[in-house]
Formats: sequence, C-alpha cells, structure tokens
Amino acid sequence: MHEDLTEQTLHLRMMARTLELARNGFIKIAPSPFRGALLAHNDTIVGEGYLANRDAVDGEVHALKAAGDKAKGATLYVNLEPAYGTSKGINLVERILDAGIARIVVALRDPNPVVSGKTLDDLRQAGVEVIEGVLADEAFQLNEIYLTEVVTRRPFVHLLTAMSLDGKIATRLQDSNGITGPETREFVQQLRSRYDAIMIGVNTVLQDNPTLNCKALRGCDPWRIIIDTEAKSPQNSKIFLRSDPNEPRPPVLIVIGYGAHEDRLRTLRLAGAEIIHCPDETHEDPRVDLARLMPILYKRGITSVLIEGGATLRGTALEAGIVDKVSFLVAPKLIGGSEATTAVGGEGVAFVHDAWPVNRMHMRSLGSDLLIEGYLK
Ligand SMILES: NC(=O)c1ccc[n+]([C@@H]2O[C@H](COP(=O)([O-])OP(=O)(O)OC[C@H]3O[C@@H](n4cnc5c(N)ncnc54)[C@H](OP(=O)(O)O)[C@@H]3O)[C@@H](O)[C@H]2O)c1
Repeated sequence: MHEDLTEQTLHLRMMARTLELARNGFIKIAPSPFRGALLAHNDTIVGEGYLANRDAVDGEVHALKAAGDKAKGATLYVNLEPAYGTSKGINLVERILDAGIARIVVALRDPNPVVSGKTLDDLRQAGVEVIEGVLADEAFQLNEIYLTEVVTRRPFVHLLTAMSLDGKIATRLQDSNGITGPETREFVQQLRSRYDAIMIGVNTVLQDNPTLNCKALRGCDPWRIIIDTEAKSPQNSKIFLRSDPNEPRPPVLIVIGYGAHEDRLRTLRLAGAEIIHCPDETHEDPRVDLARLMPILYKRGITSVLIEGGATLRGTALEAGIVDKVSFLVAPKLIGGSEATTAVGGEGVAFVHDAWPVNRMHMRSLGSDLLIEGYLK
C-alpha cells in the first residue's frame, strides 16, 4: 500500500514535469498538439524533450537521444499517446522498443479515431507496461483544441468575456474600454495567439473599432472573422490594420447573411477582406447561420475560434450549440444600469432548468481580476 502511494506520487510529479515540457511548444505549434516526453529511473530523470514546432521531431526522440544508454529499463512519461506510424521519417514504437523502455506512463490516449490506442496496444503486446490516465484533466486542458477538433471535425469554439462583477460588458453609453486590468489584457494577447481565428459581431466593430491584434505572435496573425449580415463593417476599420508595419496584412473574413449589397462587398474586398455568404438556408432569419458556418471554417483549415463578443453574438453562439468552452474575466468593479449591456444576449433560456450547464469549472487570479472558465460539453 505504502509502495503504491509512493509510486503514484512519483508518476504525478513526473507527469507534471512532462506537461511543463510540453508547454515549451506553446504558441509555436497550435493547432498541433503539445507533446512533452520524459525518461526516468524512479525519481532520476535521464532524458527530456518536447515537440518544438509542427515540423520538428517528436519530444520522445529528443528524450531518448538525451538519455542514450540510460534509456534501457527506464519509464517513459508522455502527456499524449505517442504518434502512430511514421512521423517525420521516424517510427516511434520501434524507437521506444529499440531503446529498451520498460514502462510508459501516459496522461491521455490520442483520440484521433484513425490512430487511437494503436501505439499503446503495440507497446503492450511487445511487453512494455502501460499506465494510462495520470493527470488526465490537466493534459486535456493543455491540448483542449486538438483533443476536441480531431473528434468533432469542426473548430473548437471558446467564448471569451471581459466583464464587471455585476456582469456588464459595457456601460449604458456603450463604453467598454479598460474594464479589466493589464495582467488580463496580457492574458488575452497570449490566448489569441493560440487560436486560428478571433470572431466578433459587426456591432462591436462599429462601436469599439477594435484592432484584435495579437502581439504575442508576430507574423502569424489569427484570422479576424466578422459576423456581419449586411456587410456594414467600415472599410477603414482597425481590423484591417497590420499589428506591426513590417508584418503582412492580417487575414480578415467577413461572413454575411441576406441583404448585403454588392458594392459594399466590393469595397470590403478592396480593403482586404474575404467574404463568405452563410445565411440561414430556411430564410427564417436574415442573419448568419453560425452552426452552418463551423464546418465551412474547418474545411478552410480553421480548427479553433475565439469569440470575443459582443453580447448578441455570444448569445446566438450558445443557442447554435457551437460553444465548447467559456471564459469570464471578472473585474472588481460594478457598472450597473439596466441599459448597460450584459455579457450574454440573444434570447436566453425561458426556464432555469434549461440553462447551459458549465462543467469542470476552474478559477484563478489575473492581477486584481478573476478568470473563471469551464466547458459546455
Ligand atoms: N467586454 C467585452 O468582453 C466586450 C467584447 C466585445 C464587445 N463588447 C461590447 O458589446 C457591445 C456590442 O455587442 P452587441 O451585442 O450589440 O453586438 P455584436 O454581438 O457585436 O454584433 C451583433 C450583430 O452581428 C450581426 N449578426 C449576424 N449574424 C448574427 C448571428 N448569427 N448572431 C449574432 N449576431 C449576428 C447582427 O447584425 P445585424 O443587426 O446587422 O443583422 C447583430 O446585430 C459593444 O458595446 C461592445 O463594446 C464587449
């Protein structure tokens, strides 16, 4: 019993370090999964590695190389099941077996239905002990985009809201400047850099004229997607501006419904936007059909979308059932006012028992603000 507990503690500690290693790939490899690898004999680490970018060899290869002969009989810790088949010219199952690894401890299987469990099955059959599920929740959070989109085959959608403690995202005069503090703004910059696209509604463009820039990742701006029924976004909006004069123009997608005039579309194309026509096919609603839009974006290679507002878009995104995760950045301020905009608009539910449940909630401080997050699925 005592030995088991010690072993469990050891696995938790080593997996925590493996997740730390995986995070080194942060912002450079999204939407590929973050992969860390560590080799140890009991509590002595003999090799470490991580996937540095999507073109690099896997972390396991670096860890095995660093360990050399010491890999024999060692335990391999990985946050995600090693890639199956040949990846970048290397067969990881063969490498692991050739090195004489005795045991592999895995946080999560690769859920990709094409490969799920195959690497672990091959290793098990070759006599390697396999332990699964160590720090699985933490490993899921790290790779939530990949782990979701690879199964659902549509973008991972994350709803982000900055609000006052009383749930307001703007004042009655529509002022939404500086609700949250500097640490939160830095967090948002980092978060944007993990996403393929940032999405806002046209009223936010008209009222706030945001840049949506992404200082954390120069040269790799996410798509800016504007949900804009009638193509009312002004052609001189800041969303068309470069984050940096030396960088290329950011990619902008304007998604329209019914009623957009051809001359508006021409003007927006000249400003640098691409236009997608995605109305509700039943003609019941002139606005953009968000559920229909998701597979269209996925086909274009957009695997993750960060919805930053406003309230109407947040509400209809929830109603369309496309949201995977919500994050609320809560500032220690009260704005008040029945006319001030609340965080989530749309129709909302009629009865409390129909409310969207938020699962696996967690919370942390960002300066004087609070970040509260959870998953809808
Ligand atoms: N604190 C924050 O986190 C934050 C972030 C962003 C914005 N804001 C604030 O939010 C306010 C703007 O929010 P808002 O609710 O008025 O507007 P919004 O959500 O920015 O834009 C909504 C508009 O988008 C168009 N649209 C087209 N298809 C849609 C669909 N399927 N679902 C929803 N919208 C669709 C509609 O325009 P048509 O009417 O032309 O059809 C709709 O009126 C501003 O005051 C801004 O400052 C705060």
